[in-house]
Amino acid sequence: MDKKSRQYSATAVACANIALIKYWGKRHRDKNLPAVGSISLTLNALKTETSVRFDDTLSVDWFEMNGQVAAGRPLQRVSRFLDLIWNNDRPKARVKSKNNFVTGAGLASSASGFAALALAANRAAHKDRSRQELSQLARQGSGSAARSIFGGFVEMKCGTHTTDNDYAVGLFDENYWDVRMLIAVTTREEKKISSTDGMMRTAQTSPYYKQWVSRQPHDLAEMRDSIERKDFSKMGELTEHSCFKMHGLAMSAKPPLLYWNNITVKIINIIHRLRRNGTAAYVTIDAGPQVKIMALPKSIDKVKQALHSLSGIKELIECKPGSGAVIKSFEQV
Ligand code: PMV
Repeated sequence: MDKKSRQYSATAVACANIALIKYWGKRHRDKNLPAVGSISLTLNALKTETSVRFDDTLSVDWFEMNGQVAAGRPLQRVSRFLDLIWNNDRPKARVKSKNNFVTGAGLASSASGFAALALAANRAAHKDRSRQELSQLARQGSGSAARSIFGGFVEMKCGTHTTDNDYAVGLFDENYWDVRMLIAVTTREEKKISSTDGMMRTAQTSPYYKQWVSRQPHDLAEMRDSIERKDFSKMGELTEHSCFKMHGLAMSAKPPLLYWNNITVKIINIIHRLRRNGTAAYVTIDAGPQVKIMALPKSIDKVKQALHSLSGIKELIECKPGSGAVIKSFEQV
């Protein structure tokens, strides 16, 4: 790439996603290859907007996150990711990223973050990757980011031990089925153990890890089928099962990984009570204490009412299926 073509900047927007069938475990840490496939729903209300400008006059990379200049590990992660875009002799970059939601607390900020970064950096570097290649690229930043390239229901494919190009595919776009996800934020604190560290510890120490991996193709097939048939209660049951299986697995690690707080547990009990009384609502939780409640539009007000009396919920965010990552602007500087 010549000097002139390095003076481009691009801005991309990506939505976070929530896994219905969870990814937990890696088959190769450095290449960030998952040990299991996963299925997610992209969420319209959780967005990251990221701008990348490659600039030959800079001597170091510069990264601003939510208005604050970042250093240390967050900056390193961004720099290493940008190295993947350029094979060698990369110009340094100015990267600005902003989330419209709480960062690093189990709300999938790394998913929307690396998906937006992949698109913006690819475009600013004047590269022309396909959606599949962008998904492979985003995966190297964060496994769940591979899914945020696409909108609606998305499946992350898991390769074999002899392949290393895992990517996600769109199953049904955001207009297929209006399923709502209500996010109950129980704390704004960042989680103490990252997903990667949690996954590595689980794989090394849990007596149940092998069974988790071997059962996943079955769960994925059932989930695909329930989405195809728009069978909401089946999809909900499978979603909860995968969530509790993942957390049970994490709890069985040594030392145990417990991502929940007491509000998390209270919300689970409220939703289960609601279900016993006839409202179809299901919970799912990632590597953090926030609870995501899945319900159809007709039930969402009942869910909100049921949670109303619980003190300790900092925020309720209602999401619809969101679209895939897009380039918002592109300019030659
Ligand atoms: O993408 P990572 O490395 O942040 O891992 C995501 C792990 C879970 O959110 C817990 C599950 C998932 O499939 O998104």
